[in-house]
Amino acid sequence: MMSEQTSMTPSRILTGDTPTGPLHIGHYVGSVRRRVELQDSHQCYILLANMHAFTTRAEQAEAIHRDTLEIVRDYIAMGLDPKKVAMFIQTEVPAISELTYLFAMLLPFNRVMRNPTLKDEIKVKGLGDSYSFGFPLYAVGQTADILAFRAHSVPVGEDQVPHIEMTREVARRFNQIYCGVSDQADDAEHERLGGVFPIPKADVGRCSRLPGTDGVNKMSKSLGNAIFVTDTPKQIKKKLGKLYTGRQNPTDPGDINNALFEYVRTFITDPARVEKLERAYSTGDNIGDGHIKMEVAEAIIELLEPMKERRAPYEGDDGTIMDILRDGCVRANAVAEETLALAKEAAHLRYFGRGLQLL
Ligand code: TRP
Repeated sequence: MMSEQTSMTPSRILTGDTPTGPLHIGHYVGSVRRRVELQDSHQCYILLANMHAFTTRAEQAEAIHRDTLEIVRDYIAMGLDPKKVAMFIQTEVPAISELTYLFAMLLPFNRVMRNPTLKDEIKVKGLGDSYSFGFPLYAVGQTADILAFRAHSVPVGEDQVPHIEMTREVARRFNQIYCGVSDQADDAEHERLGGVFPIPKADVGRCSRLPGTDGVNKMSKSLGNAIFVTDTPKQIKKKLGKLYTGRQNPTDPGDINNALFEYVRTFITDPARVEKLERAYSTGDNIGDGHIKMEVAEAIIELLEPMKERRAPYEGDDGTIMDILRDGCVRANAVAEETLALAKEAAHLRYFGRGLQLL
């Protein structure tokens, strides 16, 4: 298939995570693995959404600061190379906040409140009607996270797709009202027609919704159903051992669409073995859940082993992590400041130039 990007246009990628705690294997298969694949061929920017973390944890600012550094260790563990990708802190890139304010003017309030991911979070996190003004604003902020980098592609899990859709709407609208791009223009043509922003695409991972070890909900730290990079083999076996399938006997035909088989297909790398397990399970050919769980556990332990090794040298060394982040922020600001200048120019908001220095 022909790619939309030609070799003439280097394609930029922006994605990120909210620092809510250590990363788990759901993050790995849902998104980080894809970034590792892309880091050699694309310009990758990875944002630590520490301001977004305040939407639900404003009272835990110190913990957010700690989690922000900790995620960098997990990224490196999972195979991201800080020389290849720019890992940076959202609040150290001021252009993002400035663009958020501007983009908030381009989005109807009701459009933001209709965003299904926001609605879902309000429900799941039990926010009721007591959420902060900043809570819906974070979705507008996310459009600025992406557009500040004039990103072409955003590797994310499925739950983030509504945010990318909103980002596409903002980009189209900006290009139409300030850059003279026709409202009939094809998304792929916006940049060529003089739009400041490309219309970015969501790049949804192969496995964007790994179930947690409860076998029911999506894997998530707050639900206590996650496996972390730093878990010991014993912890991993114990967590998987509890995975609920509802199946009773090794001779009962099992459902290969259950959570356990999501794990089989995600972590057992030999396709012939996966097929054999699926066949035995679906026909009830004397194969117990416990056996399969331990086979999956071994596969996960094997996957995590090199991650633990890569993580070890950074344990307890905040200085090195800060150096990585400073370098990432400098690289991020170089692009974001350029975008902001272009956007302000187009929107007749540019009166003076400016420089930005991180110390
Ligand atoms: N909202 C995302 C999450 O919680 C994190 C995020 C913030 C993000 N800004 C982004 C993801 C921009 C992709 C692009 O997972």
